[in-house]
Amino acid sequence: MSQDPLKAIRGSFLDFVDDPFYIPETDSVRYLSDGLLVLENGKIKAFGPYAELQAEYDHLPTTVYSEQLIVPGFIDTHVHYPQTEMIAAYGEQLLAWLNRYTFPTESKFADKSYARTIANFFLEQLLHHGTTTALVFAAVFPQSVDAFFEAAEQLNLCMIAGKVMMDRNAPEAVCDTAESSYQETRALIQKWHKKGRLRYAVTPRFAITSTEAQLRYAGQLLQEFPDVYLHTHLSENVDEVAAVKQLYPDCAGYLDVYDQAGLVTDRSIFAHGVQLSDAEFRRLSAAQSAIAFCPTSNLFLGSGLFKIEQAKSPDYPVKVGLGTDVGAGTSFSLLQTANEAYKVAQLRRQQLSPFKALFLATLGGARALNLETLLGSFDLGKEADFIVLNPRATPLLALRSGEATPTSLDELADQLFALMMLGDDRAVHATYIMGELVFQP
Ligand code: GUN
Ligand code: ZN
Repeated sequence: MSQDPLKAIRGSFLDFVDDPFYIPETDSVRYLSDGLLVLENGKIKAFGPYAELQAEYDHLPTTVYSEQLIVPGFIDTHVHYPQTEMIAAYGEQLLAWLNRYTFPTESKFADKSYARTIANFFLEQLLHHGTTTALVFAAVFPQSVDAFFEAAEQLNLCMIAGKVMMDRNAPEAVCDTAESSYQETRALIQKWHKKGRLRYAVTPRFAITSTEAQLRYAGQLLQEFPDVYLHTHLSENVDEVAAVKQLYPDCAGYLDVYDQAGLVTDRSIFAHGVQLSDAEFRRLSAAQSAIAFCPTSNLFLGSGLFKIEQAKSPDYPVKVGLGTDVGAGTSFSLLQTANEAYKVAQLRRQQLSPFKALFLATLGGARALNLETLLGSFDLGKEADFIVLNPRATPLLALRSGEATPTSLDELADQLFALMMLGDDRAVHATYIMGELVFQP
């Protein structure tokens, strides 16, 4: 990919310099109504008000986006690429949904060329929806991981993924063994982890489909490769939690199953956490683990209402990102995911402000994935993955948003809220990866 050494983007920029769940929005939100972003070899070289940077950088080739809103690329902290084609599968809750739809669909990913086709389609969807980084479940087959990483590498994307480990309570066609999952994961880590912008996540599906032996192998891999991730599901559904109790009678609870295998670390991301106990929230806080909040999925499968205010409590803070969880989730759009997160909070008599929701989709997600030194904001030196949102992308959005560019945080919050409630991929006007335009409708 060709890269100009130096170039600039001018427009309205919004990002975060701190966490608005803990720091007032007046101090954590950064808004430049007329800003300049200077890029050098895909990284951010300068960022500030146009009026201040104009003298130094006026000679650079500059792309101007007027009446748009430029934000860091969205980060999806939990999604399954092999489930793309089974989005919107009718009528079941988690365990029946897995058996009826998920396992048969994922069995197709033994075929590498099929996996490659879907991986390319999935990544194109992500870019169209403004998602530039994701933490991704592949399928149980190592070739499904190869297909995914090969596609992501071609697009120069920062992606984290892993082979699903599952050795029981599922059809034989999608099961490995404790030993084979260890060997195959090990080989995939050596092949892909930190190759360019790619990262590996050790990915046991969940406690129900892994034996204790397999979970211990996963823990052993984290010991052998201390900077890989751990990615799994946790406490999503009431029947699931009951089944885990039966399968692991000696554990204190669901999280303890993972803890006893050495899987609860500061590089662990647990999807859902809808049914967590107070003690489990405290344990996740102490371990500096992260939760992927997946509201469209939790509503679609009838799993329940995630307690965002408990996860983000100042006393026991847990890192949180947003996850689409496609195919249980119903949209690739982090805007639509924020929409549903807002409604989940409403049902619990809580408020999720548009800035807090955008934080979860950007810098919060980067922190959940320990990527905040590289991604998630316009800080100098970070990798220039960003998107251009159109606040007037549809006739209804245009009517709702009006014509003025926001000049205050209140006006900006209102515009952003409308984008989240009414926007989706139609609101994504451009997607940039490492400073290069990769998608424009
Ligand atoms: N728990 C175990 N596997 C899955 C999955 O594929 N999707 C969801 N939503 N939950 C799971
Ligand atoms: Zn999931």
